[in-house]
Amino acid sequence: MSTFNGHHYLFANWKMYLDYDESNILANALANEWRKQGDLSALKMAIFPSDLSLYPVAQVLGDVGVAAGGQNSFWVDKGGYTGEISAAMYKNAGCAYCLVGHSERRHQFGETNHEVRQKMEAVLESGLTPVLCVGETKEERAQGKTAEVVEIQINAALDGLSWPSDRELIIAYEPVWAISKGAGKNEAGEHCDDAEAERMNIFIAQKTTQLLSGVNPVLLFGGSVRPDTVAYYLKMPHINGVLVGAASTKFDSWMEIVKNAQLPAHN
Ligand code: PGA
Repeated sequence: MSTFNGHHYLFANWKMYLDYDESNILANALANEWRKQGDLSALKMAIFPSDLSLYPVAQVLGDVGVAAGGQNSFWVDKGGYTGEISAAMYKNAGCAYCLVGHSERRHQFGETNHEVRQKMEAVLESGLTPVLCVGETKEERAQGKTAEVVEIQINAALDGLSWPSDRELIIAYEPVWAISKGAGKNEAGEHCDDAEAERMNIFIAQKTTQLLSGVNPVLLFGGSVRPDTVAYYLKMPHINGVLVGAASTKFDSWMEIVKNAQLPAHN
């Protein structure tokens, strides 16, 4: 079974796909549906909306036991940092989680491993649970550097941290080449298969346990997960959940993912 403490983790990263109205409409539709028919107890679910819609979305989903998170944060709590939002502010607005080091931050906005580390520390300090994202680009993979790149990312983020006992260590392996672009398609239609995702999650688990002994990581996979592939990944022993972008932004596909994640594991 690939659950972690009896749960599958289903995390929905809405990125910049939905505006204020669209986010609220989707959050209300999901909450209404789960109020009618939902037993979500086998799942740990969190939605990462855009900052503008975060507060109302967090309220609506909080009522049905679904958490909210920020997509990115700054490492200083308060001050003259135009355009930034701190981890402490996300916590204050009702979040439980914050993504750290998402590949779109790393590769489109030049976020370095050093900045990822500063964000990890600030997110932990704020009381939020970080969701650390790691993964290699297509070029790094072609050069056989996948393990090296991921190990450097993990070391930078975690080495020497004293992990708080009240927080889960959640790491999402998201190969950059498998992540959707734009309207839900990745550049070359590339797909990370279940065996490769599993192999990397085993590697990540080994590395994190070396760095933070006694902390058992929750291991997610992300990269074009769809309703018809979610169970394919979740059946793997080291995939405890998924971080989903494009397919989480439509009512039907997210409901289908939620349903399929609760199906008994099969091969
Ligand atoms: P995707 O995004 O499911 O649209 O590929 C995943 C992610 O980037 O978190």
